[in-house]
Amino acid sequence: MKKTINKIAVLGSGIMGSSIACHFANLGFKVLLLDRLNDKLSANDHNKGYNLQTSAIRNQLVRDGLDKTLLGKPCPIFSAKSLPLISIGNFEDDMIQISGCDWILEAIIEDVNLKRKLFAEVDKFRKKGTLISSNTSGISIGKIVDGRSEDFKVHFCGTHFFNPPRYLTLLEIIPSTFTKPDVVDFLMRYGETHLSKDTILCKDTPGFIANRIGIFAMVSAFQLAENRCADGRINWSTKICDFSNSRCNRFGYFRESSRWFVGKFKR
Ligand SMILES: NC(=O)c1ccc[n+]([C@@H]2O[C@H](COP(=O)([O-])OP(=O)(O)OC[C@H]3O[C@@H](n4cnc5c(N)ncnc54)[C@H](O)[C@@H]3O)[C@@H](O)[C@H]2O)c1
Repeated sequence: MKKTINKIAVLGSGIMGSSIACHFANLGFKVLLLDRLNDKLSANDHNKGYNLQTSAIRNQLVRDGLDKTLLGKPCPIFSAKSLPLISIGNFEDDMIQISGCDWILEAIIEDVNLKRKLFAEVDKFRKKGTLISSNTSGISIGKIVDGRSEDFKVHFCGTHFFNPPRYLTLLEIIPSTFTKPDVVDFLMRYGETHLSKDTILCKDTPGFIANRIGIFAMVSAFQLAENRCADGRINWSTKICDFSNSRCNRFGYFRESSRWFVGKFKR
């Protein structure tokens, strides 16, 4: 598949969405970063003459998400010069702009129903042939895409970036049973050649590869410690954590929510 990616829409401006947006901007891509509409007006803003129709107020969540991420150490952006490549907006007012994007990447909260609801909106506005992907840490890609249009389903894939995306090279590519092989090949190749990632093809199983191995090892270590095992088994499982850590180099940044979620899947 031949495809030129000029502009990427990133949906969700939390830790992952904002830092993925920065990673793309670092590489010279234009990015549209969207998040929820802000529907709260502080007394301070009210006194300044703002109201809930003011654009800056409507985009407050997305701006706060990006600003907070930019304060991170290490900083997700190479140079402030790349920041103008990122434009911001909200799901209510600006979803129409995704029709001008070549890849729509979702990074909202790890909740299958919320992701499905958002993708139903995306399905209304995206142009046919656009790539769509989810940064989910472990939700089934097949479940997320269920109910979407045919063109959406064949262009949809899991693209699991690790935190922080500027530094961690692993990128899991997770097709569903609907994803076109061309799309998978493209993402596998593009991740390596244009996004400076080590792409790895995963099955659509809970936790995919890295989280599945890493969480197993981590939970095993906790269980062995709880059972006061004083033999070599704790070393064994922490070594697997170390293995995941060096292969994927990521556990220090892993969020509690994802850890809980994948843990729940494994029981
Ligand atoms: N944090 C990590 O280390 C990490 C690593 C890899 C993958 N992920 C995955 O990336 C995704 C985002 O994780 P994160 O850590 O950036 O989360 P986060 O909590 O930092 O951000 C979540 C985003 O979801 C938005 N959101 C909240 N409720 C919403 C709703 N009802 N509708 C639409 N959007 C809503 C928030 O405004 C926010 O922008 C998740 O799927 C997570 O599993 C996280």
